[in-house]
Amino acid sequence: MKVLVATDKPFASEAVQGIREVVEQAGHELALLEKYTEKAQLLHAVQTANAMIVRSDIVDAEVMESAPELQLVVRAGAGYDNIDLSAATQKNICVMNTPGQNANAVAELAFGLMVYAARNFFNGTSGNELRGKKLGIHAYGHVGQNVARIAKGFGMELYAFDPFLQANIIESDGLKPLNSENELYSTCQFISLHIPLTAQTNQSVNKKLLSKMPPKGVLINTARKEIIHEAELLNFMEERPDFKYLTDIKPDNHAEMAEKFPTRYVATPKKMGAQTEEANNNTGISAAKQIVEFFQTGKAQFRVN
Ligand code: 3PG
Repeated sequence: MKVLVATDKPFASEAVQGIREVVEQAGHELALLEKYTEKAQLLHAVQTANAMIVRSDIVDAEVMESAPELQLVVRAGAGYDNIDLSAATQKNICVMNTPGQNANAVAELAFGLMVYAARNFFNGTSGNELRGKKLGIHAYGHVGQNVARIAKGFGMELYAFDPFLQANIIESDGLKPLNSENELYSTCQFISLHIPLTAQTNQSVNKKLLSKMPPKGVLINTARKEIIHEAELLNFMEERPDFKYLTDIKPDNHAEMAEKFPTRYVATPKKMGAQTEEANNNTGISAAKQIVEFFQTGKAQFRVN
């Protein structure tokens, strides 16, 4: 079988080596398409692939049309909003993710951004500490849980809202579960976003919700840009000069945001949350092992369609 690693944002070379070993030791062939710039390159590369490992790379119906041998797509990571699940199901292509494998990397970056915000973007002025501040974790999945673990070391007061999780699970980790987004945003000075992108969450972080945040509110986004209502965020920031937004995913209105709020807005140049050697190893090698197991036994752990 031919396994294609198609990564616009490449894995660390050590991770590629690890993937290669898993794939080749099982008797399969590895093909690499890294840093591609045109969709046509992906359409060409998938023509002979039986399985694919991707990151945030778009795998839409057109990509699947070009891949007559494709049986399996593994998203080396958590969010699979980049994959057209219904097209995959229609074509009998199995889609999996590798939940939890890059969660610590993303959580650490969220804290990097939080410290940067609290210390006024390292501009030499007197900032604030995180200890004793209220942190709201918006969705308590793998990343949210890692954020909570790190936040305890900082001595923050922890709150979480997750409509898909029982309150006692959040409580048993020592956090206060809240019943609604509104409650979370009105309680916490710091909010860290960990909701997936779905039809329900699209543009759901809007002005109405953000307006509930206490003075010196800080919003940290290491999730997806689409969950933010970008026009309303910009408008909200104009009205609330105490509010800061730090994101790992550049919004569409980045230039305007950067120009208007140089001391309160920052976006990483490229999505960096999961971009560590450790996370690349964990996600890439898990994806490779899941593919090998699928071809050996038909088992489809972490199937999402
Ligand atoms: C994920 O969903 O796993 C993260 O957003 C990481 O995405 P990336 O693999 O494109 O860095």
